Amino acid sequence: TTVLVLNGPNLGRLGSREPDVYGSGDLDDLCALLTADAPDGVTIDLRQTNDEAELIGWIYEAVDSGFPVILNPAAFTHYSYALRDAAALVSKAGLPLVEVHISNPHARETFRHTSVISGVATGVIAGFGFDSYRLALTAVTRAG
Ligand code: DQA
Repeated sequence: TTVLVLNGPNLGRLGSREPDVYGSGDLDDLCALLTADAPDGVTIDLRQTNDEAELIGWIYEAVDSGFPVILNPAAFTHYSYALRDAAALVSKAGLPLVEVHISNPHARETFRHTSVISGVATGVIAGFGFDSYRLALTAVTRAG
């Protein structure tokens, strides 16, 4: 199967964006890590967008194709009801959706303590740097 690894706004700047918070690796490094971890028969399809509509379209694609989702909604986490409603379709379709964060949003500014996505996610992994995604990959490949 294919696992969609979807990344929201500003994550295309990983590597140079706040390396003290997010580390020095970029999305290519993340993709290489996940591809190396992926069990036989599992393809990693990693994408990033700053566009809410595009991200929602990718979630529909996961639902329509039956793909598990690893989602770092980035700042959309904290306020996008549209993304939440799309994410709800994934679990309704019987597919896992893991919300991931590189940092631990609960240890940061108050506005990051709320996630409008978590309530419709299968589970949430945060605070382990790129390992948050690696743990999520383990979770979805076990579940699926
Ligand atoms: C983030 C945390 C969010 O609060 C922030 O807006 C991001 C990245 C993380 O991976 O730690 O862009 O989702």
